[in-house]
Amino acid sequence: MRVGIMTGGGDAPGLNAVIRAFVKRGAGQLGLEVVGIEDSLAGLLHQPLGVRNLTPRDCRGLLQRGGTVLGTTNHGDPFAYPQKDGSVKDRSGDIADSLRALGVEGLVSIGGDGSQRIAMRLMRERGIPVIGVPKTIDNDLAATDVTFGFRSAVDVATDALDRLHTTAESHDRVMLLEVMGRDTGHIALEAGIAGGADVILLPEIPYVPARVASKIHRRRAMGRTFTIIVVAEGALPVGASVADRAAALKRGGGASAIVVEALKPFVDSEMRVTVLGHLQRGGSPIPYDRVLATRFGVAAADAVAAGEWGKMVRLHNGVVDLVPLEQAVAANRYVDPDGDLVRVARATGVEFGA
Ligand code: F6P
Repeated sequence: MRVGIMTGGGDAPGLNAVIRAFVKRGAGQLGLEVVGIEDSLAGLLHQPLGVRNLTPRDCRGLLQRGGTVLGTTNHGDPFAYPQKDGSVKDRSGDIADSLRALGVEGLVSIGGDGSQRIAMRLMRERGIPVIGVPKTIDNDLAATDVTFGFRSAVDVATDALDRLHTTAESHDRVMLLEVMGRDTGHIALEAGIAGGADVILLPEIPYVPARVASKIHRRRAMGRTFTIIVVAEGALPVGASVADRAAALKRGGGASAIVVEALKPFVDSEMRVTVLGHLQRGGSPIPYDRVLATRFGVAAADAVAAGEWGKMVRLHNGVVDLVPLEQAVAANRYVDPDGDLVRVARATGVEFGA
């Protein structure tokens, strides 16, 4: 059987490890022919096609390599494919035609919620059998305990906080670190706890600037002349305006710029912003993500061989299994403001500004 494999959406550490495990298990042991599709599904939409056969030999050195050797894009929805003139066109039929011409009978889609929704539509509307593999540094898919890439991103953010601590302390500054996560705060919360942040601002807990300022003042009264604030890129103050939301969504410092402006009337310390950005997505996966990605890749190959189409592999209570794609994309995971991690953070003095 010939099966295609592609990576979609923003990259995440561990994508190559999934590809490697899938090819090793699928082509090396289960007799599958694996076709790598380049740049998400875009490789199927131009001539010559952007595809290449993948054998275990092609996967040497991929376990620890960041990014994706297949390339990816988060502008590649074939049901609304961007045209040169700025319009969009449904090119899902062309995807099906290209796969047919290649003799590819099924597709493995490694991606986040957007990619899994597209995969589900390709199966429903174009009859393309698909298996999903969940990926995103945001960890916002409720169907899986965790996505690969998340823990590597938390690792990078934690390291950044460790580094900010020493310089913040030397200069008596308020240091803000803005991290990714789209409209969820998992990276901010876990990195904030691991990196000993004093304040963590999350999209799930709108903040009151005066409360954040009061934490800075309380620390000062205790002789702690610096403060570390982690800002999730989706964090906003209570009662944020539409303009605030638009400014935050610009990414690259929108949310932390709003925090700084809101704190200025209350705080006379110097404030500095660091936006971690795509450093959280680049580089090698940490060992946890290499293991998880390998488990997912093997499970995806086994699912293809067993004909378990229309499902996504996932980690469920520590065990890798399959979940129907409809269920996989049904809900996003948000930080629970009353959950254990927020409670633990509060219990160790972290201020959420609420
Ligand atoms: O979904 C992953 C993610 O890294 C988000 O955390 C972030 O908001 C977004 O992608 C950034 O996307 P881009 O690479 O297009 O700037």
